[in-house]
Order: sequence, then structure tokens, then C-alpha cells
Amino acid sequence: MQALAKAGQNGLQGTVQVPGDKSISHRALMFGAIAAGQTEIHDFLPSADVYSTMAALRALGVQVEEKEHDLVVTGRGGFQNFRAPKQALDFGNSGTSTRLLMGLLAAQPFDMAIEGDASLSKRPLKRVSEPLNQMGAHFDLRDGNYLPGTIRASAGLKAIDYDLPVASAQVKSALIFAGMQAEGTTRIVSPLISRDHTERMLRKFGGQIKVAGKVIEIAAQPQLEGQVIDVPGDISSAAFFLVAGLITPNSKLRLKKVGINPTRTGVITLLERMGAQIKLDKFQDDAEPVADLLVESQPLHGIEIGAADIPAAVDELPILALAAACAQGQTIISGAEELRVKESDRIAEMVKVLQSLGVDVEEKPDGMVIKGGRPLKTAKPEIALSANGDHRLAMVIAVAALVTEGQVNLLDPEAMRVSYPNFLQDLTNLMKVKE
Ligand code: S3P
Repeated sequence: MQALAKAGQNGLQGTVQVPGDKSISHRALMFGAIAAGQTEIHDFLPSADVYSTMAALRALGVQVEEKEHDLVVTGRGGFQNFRAPKQALDFGNSGTSTRLLMGLLAAQPFDMAIEGDASLSKRPLKRVSEPLNQMGAHFDLRDGNYLPGTIRASAGLKAIDYDLPVASAQVKSALIFAGMQAEGTTRIVSPLISRDHTERMLRKFGGQIKVAGKVIEIAAQPQLEGQVIDVPGDISSAAFFLVAGLITPNSKLRLKKVGINPTRTGVITLLERMGAQIKLDKFQDDAEPVADLLVESQPLHGIEIGAADIPAAVDELPILALAAACAQGQTIISGAEELRVKESDRIAEMVKVLQSLGVDVEEKPDGMVIKGGRPLKTAKPEIALSANGDHRLAMVIAVAALVTEGQVNLLDPEAMRVSYPNFLQDLTNLMKVKE
């Protein structure tokens, strides 16, 4: 159990370099694995989820060397040069590893057993296996939808036209990887635009993909060539400091080199709608745009967050719910049913966390209604909260504790290893300015 710190008189002050983007780190490893030659990945995210992708690729015969903040991947030069793994591929807690690799490995000439931890084994995979099966892949999944399972050998894939039922970048990316190996042109239509890191990275590696709004067309590719990838800071990790800076009195923070891909910046847009001013500085653009984010404590007000807002802020909804609890007035979150099938049921879990801090919050099937503006306060002088093993909830609880009257303890701080192993250290450093 971890006793969580409360902010002092000076709030949070200073500069943070949040770790590398999780989505981009996974993809850089995967593209590096299928490219020819070496791929250097600078400032990758050294977290449990990314190590799950790395371990799976190594088990398939891909050489990955780790040198401090960088990785060097020696590619197999295509999809057909992998080695049959000797054991089940264990994806741990990582939905991204599972779903993207199901697409990347859909046409191998051998069977592969796949498994994950208890949380991952509850998350739906049919959304990926169904379209891939239509293309000629074969998956055996527990109850047709869950890990553990087997990716069966396939004799080859054929292109399909597919309307995604959910705006999921993971499903879209799995279909892009499969479409790259299929005969013909695969057409993927998304209900809403989701993160486009796979599309951008494919182009960076010399590949071709047609993107027209929500419609993507993908076919066989020229040989991809190894690249140098600079991974930007993860905006999903920066989001915890954005909200911490806004709700903790007397704070002033600079978050350095954060990825600001427009398919990911929903958290900035939504905080601005709540009345926040977030400044962007030192803008740079390679395959992915990057900037420093500057934030100071400011009053916020409640807003309505609907289905169209969700994909660009899907992982930031828990911390936005905390911002809403600290804002004046009511915030309604709707159209967010996807949150129920993340690393935990993030609607139910956030409602529980906020209620433990004295917040007036009502659970809805697709979101929640938060009546904000009351100071956060524990019912007893000291309470212990569980993040239910969910990394993002663990970090939300740590941010909430900064401004809560009463001592908050966290039962499972190790959950943060999934995306931000040093979060508590980085947060504590911002409280160390001299009084
Ligand atoms: C991710 C996509 C999102 C997100 C996840 C990472 C990705 O999932 O929640 O943390 O890297 O593609 P969905 O696309 O399934 O919503």
C-alpha cells in the first residue's frame, strides 16, 4: 500500500518530461519487425505493455536490443520470415499488443497460442477476429471472444470491405496489418476518426495507404525499410499533469515534448471547453507533431462530453472525470460505453473512486453525470482505495489525493507499471520546490 502525497502551499512547480507514447512505441516495434534492416526507436516507453510487445516479437525471432532510452530492432524483412514461437505469446495487460499482433500475425504458416492476464482475458477480441476471419485468418478464442486462444495457421488473406462497428484504432490497425498481406485492396470505414499512428508510421517506413476522412484503403506494400523513430511524450500520461496543474492551487508546469497528434488531443480541447488555458510552445513536426504544454492552476466549469468527443480522449476520460469533479457545475459524459471494456470497467470504477472522495456522481450505462465544485474529502480521516489493477485509475487516484482533505492510500500502485512506472516519482519532484 502506498500513502499518497498532498500538495503543499506552492502547489506543483517545474518541468516534466513524460515517458514515450505507448501507442507509438508498440507500432515502432511492430513496423521495425516487418521492415528490412535496422530500426532505431529513440525515447521508447519502457513500460510493461511495451515489453509485452517486445517479448512477443522476440519469441517470433525478431532481434530487439535495448540501450538506455533506445531500442534497435533488426527487422525480418516482411511478414513471412517469423519463427514459430516455442511457448504461448503472453500479452500481459496489453490490449494494443494483442489486437495489433492478431492482425500482423494473421497469415502465418504455423499455430500460435496467445494469452494474457486476468484483466486482458476479460476484454473482447471478436471485434478483431471476426473481420480477420472473413479475410481468411482463423482464431480459436475462449467463448469465441476472449483470451486464451490460438492464432491458427492460414493459407493466405483476401481483401474485404469492412465497416467498423466501433471507432477503435486497435481494430483499424489490425485490419491495416492484415490488409498489407492480403490479395486485393482492403477498405476500412470507421464511424468516427480514431488515432492514426499506424497510418502515419506505415508512410514513414515507405509504405502506401489511402486515407480520405473515415475511409482507408490498404493493399500489398513495397518492402518497408528500417527507420529512425523519435517517440514523442505520451499525451495520455501528460493528461495527469495537465489536470493536476489545473486543480492544484498555485501550480505552474511545463510538460516537455508531448505528442499533439490531432487524433489524440481531445483532452486539451475538452479542458479548454471547461475554461482552461493550455499554451503550446516549441512546436515541431516530423511524422508526429510535438510541443511543450504549459499549464497553471485555473478555475474550471462543467461541460457536456458526447460520443463524438470520445475517440480523441478515450484514455483520458478518467482524469477528465476528476477535473469535472473539481469544476463548478455539472458535467455529463455520454456515448462512452467503450470505457467499460478497457483495462477495467472505467465507468463503474471512476464512479466508485469519486464517491469515496465525497463527489456527487451518478453512473449511466454509457457514462456518468458529475456535479462538481465541492472540495474533495474522505469520509474517514484515512482511506485506502483500489485502482482494480488499472494503471490509469491508479494515477487518477494519486492526482485526486493532492487536493483531497483526508489521507488517501492506494492499494495497488504497481498498476502504474503498465504505462508510467515512474509516475509517483515525477509527481513528487514537482512538490520539492523550496518554501
Ligand atoms: C490504442 C487505442 C485505444 C486506446 C488504447 C491504445 C492504440 O483503444 O484505448 O489505450 O494504441 O491503438 P481502442 O482503439 O480500442 O479504443
